[in-house]
Amino acid sequence: MKDLIEKLAKEAQEEISQAGSLTQLEELRVKYLGRKGSFTTLMTGLKDIPNEEKPAAGQALNHAKKSIEHELETKQQHLEKEELTKQLSDDSFDVTRPGTHVTTGHIHPLSQVQKEVEEIFGQMGFAIMDGPEIESEHYNFEALNVPKDHPARDMQDTFFVSGKHHENHGRMVLRTQTSPVQIRSMEKYGAPLRAIMPGRVFRYEATDASHDSTFYQVEGLLIDKDVSLANLKGVMTEFLTRLFKRETKVRFRPGYFPFVEPGIELDMWCLLCSGQGCRVCKNTGWMEFMGAGMVHRNVLKAGGIDPDEYKGWAFGFGLTRLVMMKYGIDDIRHLMSGDLRFLKQF
Ligand code: PHE
Repeated sequence: MKDLIEKLAKEAQEEISQAGSLTQLEELRVKYLGRKGSFTTLMTGLKDIPNEEKPAAGQALNHAKKSIEHELETKQQHLEKEELTKQLSDDSFDVTRPGTHVTTGHIHPLSQVQKEVEEIFGQMGFAIMDGPEIESEHYNFEALNVPKDHPARDMQDTFFVSGKHHENHGRMVLRTQTSPVQIRSMEKYGAPLRAIMPGRVFRYEATDASHDSTFYQVEGLLIDKDVSLANLKGVMTEFLTRLFKRETKVRFRPGYFPFVEPGIELDMWCLLCSGQGCRVCKNTGWMEFMGAGMVHRNVLKAGGIDPDEYKGWAFGFGLTRLVMMKYGIDDIRHLMSGDLRFLKQF
């Protein structure tokens, strides 16, 4: 029996080493180890040999089976590798052939302009700050000198987040302006402070060509000991001149915002006619650009800054509107539409 086993094992080894393909190898596995394979038959035959020979024969048989399994495995790995190498070096596989074209997108016009704005203010020493889009009534209104039930709350139609209350800060709202980040920055960094705060804001408004329920603003805040609106005029003239890459002028008009006193509206020279008067600026030569003013004492106090020691100015402009002005876009809804025919133009 032992001789037989050894002979068979040797034969199997030889055939395995000569196998030239995975199919051949599988045939050999069936031939020797399969249900009707030689070694399986020998295993069944064990019961017919004399008892004293059984242990030795059984051991030899197991040993032989194991080593054949091992050889089958090694040979299989070898053949698989060979096949892969062959496929790769096959002439019909042209590695220089152009692949499927993957189209890459580009930065959205809103983000492009936001980056430019950040760069220009960054060069003038302003930090860039961020705040949450879901705010408490405290930050969005109260701390900005808009008390509960004050008519000024109606200036901005507000989305309330249902069921959400902040412990001491009232209901939660989708922020209607970036101004709450003024308070957050004051609380975090104190005075002096020089920062802009770009971000997304929300108003409960019917949508038309110039209104959307979601848009972008940029807030600006400068707090120091000796600050006046003259500095604001200088900063904004410089900013707009750099952004539009041509001479620009700005002018102030009185305006009301609860968080500034005095409050102003800032106009810039009409981009089309540079102050001459045209159809776009309705012959005034000016375009409304933003709200601003000297930060109200109550706002400084709410931000933890002593209004007798420090003062400052703040502004807020619509980034969305700025993008529309810059590129001559006549409908705000294009910007959030995700329409590639529109976006590809920028
Ligand atoms: N937050 C105001 C708005 O959304 C703009 C503003 C900001 C006005 C800062 C004055 C000072 O209309």
